[in-house]
Amino acid sequence: MAADKINLAVLISGRGSNLQALIEACEQDHFPARITVVISNKSDAGGLKRAEKHDIPTLVIPHKEFASRDAFEDALIKAIVPYDIDVICLAGFMRVLTPHFIDHYAGRIINIHPSLLPDYKGLNTHERVLKDGASQTGCTVHYVVPDVDSGDVIVQKIVDVLPDDTVETLAARVLEQEHVAYPEAVAIVASTILQNRDNKLESL
Ligand code: GRF
Repeated sequence: MAADKINLAVLISGRGSNLQALIEACEQDHFPARITVVISNKSDAGGLKRAEKHDIPTLVIPHKEFASRDAFEDALIKAIVPYDIDVICLAGFMRVLTPHFIDHYAGRIINIHPSLLPDYKGLNTHERVLKDGASQTGCTVHYVVPDVDSGDVIVQKIVDVLPDDTVETLAARVLEQEHVAYPEAVAIVASTILQNRDNKLESL
């Protein structure tokens, strides 16, 4: 018998609307993942309250309190260990992670980005899309590798750019699709992990 759910740590820095989408998906009986901890590098991140409302353990690890990126990432790793995590979901986590952290969880960190990668890596994606007059944009859930916004794509959703779009209206429509894409991607990743676990057990 396969274990029915994998364990997720969700890392946030802000309002946590993608975290909310993941919380709601994980509350479905047949969704193959549960959130076991939410970690923020900011004590005032709105997402912390969302997690607390759903009785999900939260931790605040302020990056500013550490002398180096490695020291911050060591603290993250130490905090994550007790939660028996299978996959780390970055959901608006505004710290670039170094190979020190990424290699520790190789192939097990995923991120959501508000553009159709490989287009518009980095910040201010919607501003740049509008400035270029692009007709389509969207969002991407991808594996995290040391090159920022460059790992393999798991799920993408396309959003049309409308003639009268502003950064705000475009961001809102992309965000709606992010909330669909992230649970879909987690389900894909989780199902693969559970299937492999199942195959391993069967071959014992
Ligand atoms: C989202 O647009 C996500 O794509 C980007 O940061 C934003 C986080 O929003 N990486 P929220 O905190 O999930 O509401």
